[in-house]
Amino acid sequence: MTTRVIVNISELTTNDASLGDGSLAGRLFNAAMVLDEHQVLWVGANGDAPDADERIDAQHCAVLPGFVDSHTHLVFAGERSDEFEARMAGEPYDGGGIARTVAATRAASSDELRATTQRRVDALRAGGVTTIEIKSGYELTVEGETRLVDIVNDWSDDVTFLGAHVVPAEFSHDRDAYVELVGGAMLASCAPKSRWADVFCDVGAFSVDEARSILLRARDAGLGLRLHGNQLGDTGGVALAVELGAASVDHCSHVNDDDVAALAGSSTVATLLPGAEFSTKSPYPSARRLLDAGVTVALATDCNPGTSYVTSMSVVIALAVREMGMTVDEAIWAATRGGALALRRDDIGHLSPGARAHVVLLDAPRSAHVAYRVGSTLVRQVLHD
Ligand code: NIG
Ligand code: FE
Repeated sequence: MTTRVIVNISELTTNDASLGDGSLAGRLFNAAMVLDEHQVLWVGANGDAPDADERIDAQHCAVLPGFVDSHTHLVFAGERSDEFEARMAGEPYDGGGIARTVAATRAASSDELRATTQRRVDALRAGGVTTIEIKSGYELTVEGETRLVDIVNDWSDDVTFLGAHVVPAEFSHDRDAYVELVGGAMLASCAPKSRWADVFCDVGAFSVDEARSILLRARDAGLGLRLHGNQLGDTGGVALAVELGAASVDHCSHVNDDDVAALAGSSTVATLLPGAEFSTKSPYPSARRLLDAGVTVALATDCNPGTSYVTSMSVVIALAVREMGMTVDEAIWAATRGGALALRRDDIGHLSPGARAHVVLLDAPRSAHVAYRVGSTLVRQVLHD
C-alpha cells in the first residue's frame, strides 16, 4: 500500500473537535497528514511528519475534507433555462416543470444520460466534492426509474429512489394508483439497487399521508428514508421526517417553531439547499434559527434542471453564509460533516485517522476563501479513493 505525506499545510480542517484547536472544525495550523489510497493514517504538526512513500507539498495552503453533496438529481435530459428567466422576472416556482424533464429523460438514451451525468459529476469533483448522493425521479415508470437507479450506481453508493417526485400526467386522474405503483412494483424493482427512498412531500406533489405510506413500505424494503419537505409551504414534511426517523429532511424553506423543536430533539438532519432559493427567487430560510435551536444542518447543491442547476459547493457555502446566517466555519462543516451525517456515514466528512482518504487541497491559505472568493475555482488537488 503506497503512503503519502502532505506537508506544509497552513490550515488543516479535520472536523474532529478532539484534534487541533478544540473548535468544531478541529483545526491544526502548520500541519501535515499521512494517508494511503484508502484512509487517513495520521495528522499532526508539520515538524512531526513521518516519512512516507510519496510527498505532496501543500505550499502553505489549506486542506479540508472533500465536500459531501448529500442531495442531487444529476441524471436528467434537457434544460429549463426559460423557467429560470421567467422566475427572475417574477413567476413563481410550482414544480410544474418537472413534467418537462420527465418527458426529455424518458426520450433520452442511456448512453446520453450517462454522458451528461458524467459531465455534472466532473464539475462537482472539480469543485472538491468527493461524495455525491444522486436521486432518480425523472422517469416515473417502473422501467424508467429502474433504469435511472441503475445508471446512478455508476457514480454513487448513496443511490436514492425518488419515484414519488410528482404524479405523472398519465395518472393525474388516479393518483392513488400511482402511489400504489410507487410503493409496490416500482419500489420492488428499484430497492435492490438503492440505499435510500425519498418523497417530494409538498404542495402539488405528495401529501403527508401519501408520503408516509410510500416511506413505510420503503423502510420495510430495507431502504433508509429521506424527504423533500417544506420547500413550497408549511406542509408537514418536516414533522413526518422526524416521525419516521428519516436521515434527512431537505429544503426546510418554510418551518414553524414546532418543526424546529422536533428537529432539534431528533437525529434527522435539516439539509438546506440555497441554490434552490437562489434559482427560484424565493426567500432563504434561516440556518441560524435551526442552529441556535440545536438542529444539525447540512448544505447540498440540489443540482437539478428546474430549481438549482448548480454544481458548485463553494457557491452553496457562500450563499448560506451571506443569506442564511451561517458563519463560514458552520457552512464548511455543514457541506462536509453535515452532509455525511445526512447520509448516516461516519467514514467521510472528516479527516480523523481512519476516515476515508477524501481530501481537498485549496489554492488558498485559509478554508474561508471558499466563501470569501465566491465564484473562483480554488481547488488545487482532490484526493479520492
Ligand atoms: O429539489 N422539489 C422537488 N424536486 C427538485 C426540483 C425538481 C425540478 O423542478 O425539476 C428540488 O427542488
Ligand atoms: Fe431536490
